[in-house]
Parts: sequence; C-alpha cells; structure tokens
Amino acid sequence: SPAPTLLAIIRKALSEEKRVSTKTSAADLVTETDHLVEGLIISELQKRFPSHRFIAEEAAAAGAKCVLTPSPTWIVDPIDGTCNFVHRFPTVAVSIGFAVNQELEFGVIYHCTEERLYTGRRGRGAFCNGQRLRVSGETDISKALVLTEIGPKRDPATLKLFLSNMERLLHAKAHGVRVIGSSTLALCHLASGAADAYYQFGLHCWDLAAATVIIREAGGIVMDTSGGPLDLMSCRVVAAGTREMATLIAQALQTINYGRDDEK
Ligand code: IPD
Repeated sequence: SPAPTLLAIIRKALSEEKRVSTKTSAADLVTETDHLVEGLIISELQKRFPSHRFIAEEAAAAGAKCVLTPSPTWIVDPIDGTCNFVHRFPTVAVSIGFAVNQELEFGVIYHCTEERLYTGRRGRGAFCNGQRLRVSGETDISKALVLTEIGPKRDPATLKLFLSNMERLLHAKAHGVRVIGSSTLALCHLASGAADAYYQFGLHCWDLAAATVIIREAGGIVMDTSGGPLDLMSCRVVAAGTREMATLIAQALQTINYGRDDEK
C-alpha cells in the first residue's frame, strides 16, 4: 500500500523548511509537499481505477474544472491544514472522499501526527481507528462547543462578517468557538462528539466530501448555511450533531459569499 510512504513524506516534511507559495490570497498556502502527495494519491488510484474521475485541490488551483458528474469520482485534499503544516502546527490531515452518481459513498481522513484514521461508508457507520463514532445530542447553543475556520479571504468586509458571525454565537452564549486550522479534522471532532457544531464559509468540496460521509454515518447533520440541503460545491456548510443545533446555527449566520467550486 502507498499509504505508509505518503505519511512518511508528510511527517518528514512537517519538521523541515518548506517552499511556500500563495494561491487565492496571502493566507491560502501551498507547498511542494501538497503537490507531491496529491500526485502520488492520484497516480496510485488511477492505476487501480483507470476509468474513475478526480477532483483534487492542487489540480483545481492549477485550473482543472471541479465538476461532479455521475461517474465514480475521487475528491482529494492531499494536505488539509496547509497553513498549520507550514508552521509545524501538528493538526494536518489527508482527506479522500468518493462519490458515485453524485452521491457521497465513503470518506477517509487521516490525522497525520496523531495517527488517527477516520472512515465513513454510506450505510455502514463511521469509525476512528476501528472505534465507532457518534455525534453529540446537544440541541442548545448555550451549551455548545462550536468549531469554525476562517477561510482564505482577508478583505475588511469578509473579516467583519466573519467576526460578527462569531460574535453572534458568543452572544447566544456558546461555551466556546474554536479554530484549529483544518476543516477536515474539525469536522472529524464533530463526528466524534467532541464538539456540537461546525460552520464555515470558504471551504471547498475537497474539505467537505469525506467528512460529510463520516458525520452523517456518526448520526450528524450536514446542511447548507441557508438551512437547505448541502451543496458540495457551494463553499459553505453548517454541520451539527442534531438538526435543531444545525438550524439554530444556520439562522444565526450572515452569508459570506465565496462563489462556487464548480464555477471557478
Ligand atoms: C483549508 C483549511 C482551512 C480552511 C480552508 C481550507 P487547505 O484547507 O482546512 O482551515 O479555513 O477553508 O480550504 O488549504 O489547508 O487544504
């Protein structure tokens, strides 16, 4: 299996100096390791499944279209938490989701430094290193630990909305709001019941694909920030252990417009 090689590459690179480039903004980072790992994952999967399609973060950054067709499609984030990775902050994951007929079938997310493998398969449950995952049953924001991520934009209007969304949840007396720097691992914490809700504007389909299956299979809800069904390409999400909590969070949020992954 190529997995040990990939993980050795990521772990070794984590402690070394990196050549860092920026993508859509000064806070949207990429390193040689993101490219290397993405190439290895795709070439290995392509050997085994030559007819399958791929949506992958660095290919998309290089201009590949992100369109989810009914064909079997792998949705790959080679290093989620690249900014953490650059700073040696050890919250870094590899995320791979798989969809057929535009339906998410399974997802795997690997926490590279804590060696935790999160898996979810539609109808078959979600697990972390073999232990079944279960979301929290919390329905009350004033008892909730909420996770979010900042997203790449830093213009004043975006920052104002980001901060005011956080302020609204703190006004609603959420116990805390956390930003850990990896949307996939934050979503895994939600699936594990270690947090009660997650929301974000500006994340991508490769941040969401695998985690969505894992959360749903752990009994949780993944929806659009409008309160409607999740749209994987919409760059926005609310997830929670309960529908009540997801709806309350969605109602509290003001939209930050990041466009769509399939229109870039
Ligand atoms: C990013 C991280 C970050 C989140 C961004 C993601 P990347 O993924 O998960 O926490 O705020 O929206 O795109 O670029 O590190 O793979």
